[in-house]
Amino acid sequence: MKLLSLIFGLFLFFKISWLHQNKPLEESIADGEEIYQDFCVQCHLDSGEGVSGVFPPLADSDYLLNNIDLSIKGIKYGLNGPIEVNGETYDGVMQNQGLEEEEVADVMNYILNNWGNSSKQIITPQRVSQIHE
Ligand code: HEC
Repeated sequence: MKLLSLIFGLFLFFKISWLHQNKPLEESIADGEEIYQDFCVQCHLDSGEGVSGVFPPLADSDYLLNNIDLSIKGIKYGLNGPIEVNGETYDGVMQNQGLEEEEVADVMNYILNNWGNSSKQIITPQRVSQIHE
């Protein structure tokens, strides 16, 4: 009996962690859109176009698309100091947005797959947790 419940418990554990790791991309993007509307839209704007010279664009941003880990780091811990986005220099401050790892993954999946952006990489909470300051 004990063995049976142990096996059942293990099964549940793996099933849940499997489900957790494999939240479908569409669901992650949909959740990411809500986070974007709450935390990002005031600076990066509705179509991810940003404000030239002040808030860098996310739509078609070479920085974002070529520096996924640095972008995750910026969202997780904040970003400041000069960066170049599509040939324009930005030297602003983005605060740490106080998001959980899963929320960072969701908002990354949203911005990587919206406004004409597309990425083959699916960002998981595990990847976010591996990025340190
Ligand atoms: C208060 C304004 C503000 C908010 C809110 C904000 N950002 Fe930013 N973001 C900036 C600024 C300013 C920079 C550039 C920082 C620098 O110059 O080093 C930046 C840079 C970035 C970059 C890297 C540069 C690029 O354009 O590719 C990404 C990616 C990004 N932000 C995503 C987000 C996401 C996602 C959110 C919401 C979770 C968010 N930002 C919220 C102001 C903001």
